[in-house]
Amino acid sequence: MSRELSLAEIFQLGYYWETKILLTAVRLDVFSTLDGKRKTLQEVAGRLGAHAQTLGLLLNALVAMRLLDKDGDSYGNSTAASTHLVRNSGQYIGHLLLLHDAEWENWGKLEETIRTGQRSVDRHVFETDPDLGSNVLAVLHRIGQQSGPDFAKRLQLSGPVRLLDLGGGAGTNAIAFCQVYPDLTATVFDLPTTLQLTERTVKEAGLESRIRLHPGDFNKDRLGGPYDVALMSDILHYQDFATNAALVKRVLAHLAPGGRLVIKDRFLNEAGTGPAWTTAFAVHILVNTEQGGCYKTADAMKWMTEAGFSTVTELEPSAAVQGTKSGQS
Ligand SMILES: C[S@@+](CC[C@H](N)C(=O)[O-])C[C@H]1O[C@@H](n2cnc3c(N)ncnc32)[C@H](O)[C@@H]1O
Repeated sequence: MSRELSLAEIFQLGYYWETKILLTAVRLDVFSTLDGKRKTLQEVAGRLGAHAQTLGLLLNALVAMRLLDKDGDSYGNSTAASTHLVRNSGQYIGHLLLLHDAEWENWGKLEETIRTGQRSVDRHVFETDPDLGSNVLAVLHRIGQQSGPDFAKRLQLSGPVRLLDLGGGAGTNAIAFCQVYPDLTATVFDLPTTLQLTERTVKEAGLESRIRLHPGDFNKDRLGGPYDVALMSDILHYQDFATNAALVKRVLAHLAPGGRLVIKDRFLNEAGTGPAWTTAFAVHILVNTEQGGCYKTADAMKWMTEAGFSTVTELEPSAAVQGTKSGQS
């Protein structure tokens, strides 16, 4: 049994002022304005086209939040802000914060959604704003580059494996798999708008000869193949149960005998109460997607078993499930 929350912790859970102050500063691009040179309030207001007196309140709060510092009447970025919140920094993560801010209105409809069971959005922000979507994927790619190779190693592949990375996004997994397995070739299947980003990341990794880009809608278009391994990483929580079951079944037909499908996602435990981050993610998916959902490991195993995979196993608790197609490869 976990310990009881203190009153202070309950207040902290209900406190979002600093969140909105940060998101607004990123939207205004305060940190890029201060890049390289300290500025007075009047100078920042002039650059941003903002009302100086009200901007001052925001900047002072950012000082208290340790994102800016103030010396006399001049403001400057903290090291963390210069590194992660200035647009031309190689480690800029602002796009992810801009996504959170774009979803702000949807969160305001949470009560109505809970009362009625009706979703309030008809399209995910990735569909309504593909540029933001691809910028977010680029940030996730930078972050995911660290964990990608470990996941690839866990699959213990060997030889000239043909990998299909469905909804492969920036190609993070395909690139990691190619780096871990020298004889592997990969196909990244994704929407044409996303593949513009993938083309850049694959080129940066120098893997153009081993990673093929296949544009299309994975629920409708031909998937090519046959493949030895198909990967679905973080794509199924945007779709409903029946669509996922149908997609898993389609993929089975594109695997070579003995081939495997790996589903990597954020699975809830059987009670639906953990892992903690995933329980909140499930609410995020509820308010920000038309029909997505957070599923359980057992759901993914059911899609595979009912599709006809011969062996279905959990690779990593709450994170990865694998199904093997019968026959020798
Ligand atoms: C959250 S990203 C996951 C990216 C990548 N698999 C990873 O784990 O980093 C979801 C990806 O699915 C793609 N996607 C969503 N719906 C799709 C569809 N119907 N057909 C093809 N790709 C789709 C999006 O473009 C996006 O790249």
